[in-house]
Amino acid sequence: MPPDATETQRYRLSSLTSKGALARLAGIGAVVAAVAAAFAYVGGWLSPDRLSQAQIIDRFEHLNGVHPGFRRNHAKGVCVAGSFESNGQGMRLSKAAVFEPGRVPVVGRFSLSGGHPFMADGPKDVRALGLSFRPLHGEEWRTAMINIPVFVVKDPKAFYEQLLATRPDPATGKPDPAKLAAFTAAHPEFPAAMKVIAGHPFSSGFADTRYNGLNAFRFVNANGVATPARWSLVPTEPVVPQTPEPAKSEDKNYLFDELMARLARGPLQWHLIVTVGRPGDTTDDATTPWPADREQVDVGTLTVARAETEAPGNCRDINFDPLVLPSGIEPSDDPLLSARSATYSESFTRREGEAQTPSAVAVPIPGKGS
Ligand code: HEM
Repeated sequence: MPPDATETQRYRLSSLTSKGALARLAGIGAVVAAVAAAFAYVGGWLSPDRLSQAQIIDRFEHLNGVHPGFRRNHAKGVCVAGSFESNGQGMRLSKAAVFEPGRVPVVGRFSLSGGHPFMADGPKDVRALGLSFRPLHGEEWRTAMINIPVFVVKDPKAFYEQLLATRPDPATGKPDPAKLAAFTAAHPEFPAAMKVIAGHPFSSGFADTRYNGLNAFRFVNANGVATPARWSLVPTEPVVPQTPEPAKSEDKNYLFDELMARLARGPLQWHLIVTVGRPGDTTDDATTPWPADREQVDVGTLTVARAETEAPGNCRDINFDPLVLPSGIEPSDDPLLSARSATYSESFTRREGEAQTPSAVAVPIPGKGS
């Protein structure tokens, strides 16, 4: 005979209050608490003194203002498309699909450092190139490179402080000497890096620039052998040094316009050079160059075929997060890497949620004038 409703209820209650059920409930409670604690930790609620990605982006906004829809750093830029032809030389260092012989499509973005999307191009602005390599069967690789030979600080806290310490005073156009001196004294790697940078004068434009990945990574090959590595893009264009004090151009976009004019005449190319570290080489400090005698391996050629105005669905909506890596390239212990990844994500989330404003750099459509 089937039990009546009261009996069923009684049965359920007694099974719920049994020791096994209590243990299960306690287990579920513990999992929920652990998930909540993990969210609280990641959100920074358990460690209010820890520097968060939101604080770094708030500081960019404090210094540059909010420009809806634009990147909080490297705000001024233009999209490009092309391909990477691998020569197979990278395979002994990394099993990444992108290093197998052959060609993969690439989407990229040239930019200038700084949070002002409509600033005038200047001879001292740091030039940059973000790339997304897209092999046919997945395993995308993203990297964001700049034209200085070392980075200026070695950890995110120093970066956060440096943004304020080097802020130009509106009255003089130069940083406050007292604040800069205090920052420099606290971060001796900063003046040392500036000295290295001063020894590498800028070239004349985007096309003849060398772009450097700066942070160290770990290349892992098919046999599981790991090697510290850094990479750079070396232009095939002859490098024309920038004159020490170029005449102030009337054209606010002179660097981008020159790039577009050059691309209108034909593709541009760079060699992707991997610098192979040795055991003991610093991998957690992007302000320190490796010794000049480290092996350089030319792993293939990047071809930039055309430029495109930033628009929905192109490079505008990519986050060139340096931790989007294929199997065969792994992060090193450099603390800048996770900070960059988290901060780019915060910038991306904010800008993608905003109304979009047309970019200052408009690529002329052939036959339609500019
Ligand atoms: C803690 C250090 C750093 C912070 C906080 C930082 C912050 C940022 C932010 C917020 C963006 C905009 C991201 C977006 O909205 O998509 C950006 C873009 C960029 N950063 Fe950094 N950055 C750091 C270090 C570096 C380093 C070491 C390099 C070069 C090796 C670099 C190269 C670039 C480039 C090339 C872009 C432009 C990418 C694009 O076109 O979207 N950054 N950075």
